[in-house]
Amino acid sequence: MRIGAVDVGPPKGPILALAPMDDVTDLPFRRICKAQGADLVFTEFVQSDQLVHGAKRAEKRLDIADDERPVGIQLYGSAEPRMQQAALRAAEAGPDLIDINCGCWVKKIAGRGDGAGLLRDLAKFESVVRAVVEVSPVPVTIKTRLGWDDDNVVILEVARMVEQCGAAALTVHCRTRKQGYTGDADWSWLARIREATSLPLIGNGDVRTAEDAQRMLESGCDGVMIGRGAIHNPWIFAQTRHLLDAGERLPPPDAATRIGMCIALLRETAAYRGEARAVREFRKHYRGYLGDLPGFDALRPELMTIEHEAEARGRLAAYAASLGAPVDTVSSYSGGSTAR
Ligand SMILES: Cc1cc2nc3c(=O)[nH]c(=O)nc-3n(C[C@H](O)[C@H](O)[C@H](O)COP(=O)(O)O)c2cc1C
Repeated sequence: MRIGAVDVGPPKGPILALAPMDDVTDLPFRRICKAQGADLVFTEFVQSDQLVHGAKRAEKRLDIADDERPVGIQLYGSAEPRMQQAALRAAEAGPDLIDINCGCWVKKIAGRGDGAGLLRDLAKFESVVRAVVEVSPVPVTIKTRLGWDDDNVVILEVARMVEQCGAAALTVHCRTRKQGYTGDADWSWLARIREATSLPLIGNGDVRTAEDAQRMLESGCDGVMIGRGAIHNPWIFAQTRHLLDAGERLPPPDAATRIGMCIALLRETAAYRGEARAVREFRKHYRGYLGDLPGFDALRPELMTIEHEAEARGRLAAYAASLGAPVDTVSSYSGGSTAR
């Protein structure tokens, strides 16, 4: 498929995209997902004001690598001049796309009119999209929700509007702002949105398995975006592509593959963020990757106290060996899914 002039995924689609996630989708995690078959990845959101003021935290989020392309940098904000400046600054980092976050529900963002706050003021929404499209040298994509609340579902209007403004694709998290993460994402909207716009349409919300992704695609979109379902399970992209292409389910990754993934991610994160931070932050991920493996509960307290990356990797490798699953490579799990 194409988003603007950018080729994304296989020629006839569908697109399997990694959702932007604050504090999750940094460069190492995006690369892991890419290697597992994600066709399109997005950075964590970047606040436009912070970027324009040169805040280090914002600048760091612009780091992208060639082997993760196509990649979109996501911006948020509602002041048009700032968003334009931020888009130009982001474009210098060389992304394939710039995405505008029009769906963040958290109070301190939506409450001041940014993110999903734009869904309460469609004139402002339109003006922000137009402003960014006007200056961006790369295609601009939009990520939003159905509306502010059940009484104000505006997504059909939004879909038509962003297309007219020159946006190149639309991602819809099929919940309202008021829902936050409660209830179920209502995928039935996708078919209606599909009729309202000819933009590439990416569905989002509650895809936890390859089968979910397949069902979402059947409900009428050109791609699926996976967020929480990819945390601790980057294999979901390989599993989905395999299910779509071969019509069969890949077995879940085995212990060696999962431990190998932890080792790889730990190493990459330490190189990218520094050892101390990587080791500390990774503590919250062990259970997600390994929690159901035999002997994990006994190993966990030890992992929680390890301070050095090499030691953590060594302990993980020993654990794998103890399970009779020596780790040599992380690429052993594959549904034929590595970079296309
Ligand atoms: C930890 C976390 C951080 C998130 N950060 C962002 C973000 O930076 N930008 C954004 O557009 N959405 C963000 N989201 C929302 C996701 O992109 C996605 O829309 C949402 O989680 C629904 O998809 P899922 O059910 O596949 O997780 C975040 C979600 C989570 C769980």
